[in-house]
Amino acid sequence: MDKKTVLVTGGAGYIGSHTIIELLNTNKYEVISADAFFNSSPRAYTQIEEITGKKIKQYEINLCDKKKAERIFLENRIDSLIHFAAFKAVGESVEQPLKYYHNNMESLINMISLCNQYGVANFIFSSSCSVYGNVEKLPVDENTPIPQAESPYAHTKQIGETLLQHVCKQHPAFNAVALRYFNPVGAHHSAKIGEWALNKPNNLVPLITGTAIGKYNLTVFGNDYPTRDGTCIRDYIHVSDIAQAHVLAVHYLLDKKNTSNFEPFNLGTGAGVSVLEAIAAFEKVSGKKLNYKIGARRPGDVIAVYSNSSKAFNLLGWSCKHDINSMMKTAWDWELYSKNRTD
Ligand code: UD1
Repeated sequence: MDKKTVLVTGGAGYIGSHTIIELLNTNKYEVISADAFFNSSPRAYTQIEEITGKKIKQYEINLCDKKKAERIFLENRIDSLIHFAAFKAVGESVEQPLKYYHNNMESLINMISLCNQYGVANFIFSSSCSVYGNVEKLPVDENTPIPQAESPYAHTKQIGETLLQHVCKQHPAFNAVALRYFNPVGAHHSAKIGEWALNKPNNLVPLITGTAIGKYNLTVFGNDYPTRDGTCIRDYIHVSDIAQAHVLAVHYLLDKKNTSNFEPFNLGTGAGVSVLEAIAAFEKVSGKKLNYKIGARRPGDVIAVYSNSSKAFNLLGWSCKHDINSMMKTAWDWELYSKNRTD
């Protein structure tokens, strides 16, 4: 049987690299990656090869340059595209909105138009729970209204989804799925691949593991919220579970199981975990006591958010294999493996 070809943009990044591993593990797909290494390293490809025993074809291309990106479509027959390549730091997007709108929108527009030009019928878009903003009703399902965006980053995800909906309406043969991630954390169980950031992270889990090795000092942002222990609640989800959902979304579109040609799906475990519970899980699996302090609330933080992901469970046949302990254990193993790395 001929293998189908999947183009993964941002394939050297955190979720992209884990998704490539899961795609290769099915033995059903040829995978091509396109990445400009703005916030990632080609080392990811070596690690993918070590883990899977497979070498993938890769292009170092800034997808905002349509002429250069077109080369990938000219040289390969692509069946499906998973679009991860984007900037994703919420705070930075507030400080440098144009950087985010330029990069995230231009690369997306180029990918969609090249798909249309070259007859690529299946498109998976990396979206985010941040499209929902500050929600009142929990858990959040896909029918939750989309309010005005809280940040330029979230806005690029909202616009991206709307753009895809319009293109899908206009091109009935073009099919798109938007996967709205809650809080992706953890690393591949081999510990050879994980979240690689060139700069200090802002997210909780890499700050916990980085604090445990003495690289950072964790401050818990507020313990006076109206929650069970006073700290904020989030829906942390293991990156390999998210990666698996992308593989299922590719199957779903290739098997023509979608009922509409644009469909959004939430990806979360459905279990809300507080900041102190996340720290306790880390201490349990690592056997290390974490030194942290309690500080002021972080402006813009929502009190609690977690997902209703039954649509992905029912339609994609997805399930989560990892709980918070496994998320923390793999994040910790990855920290220990990568702590001396400089590229
Ligand atoms: C943010 C983004 C979300 C993105 C996610 C992962 C928003 C609205 N959402 O989520 O789109 O998918 O990052 O990249 O910005 N915390 C501390 N101390 C710290 C850091 C975090 O106590 O030093 C707490 C926060 O207050 C929060 C929780 O840990 O309660 C998680 O924070 P974080 O990892 O930054 O993710 P979110 O802000 O939930």
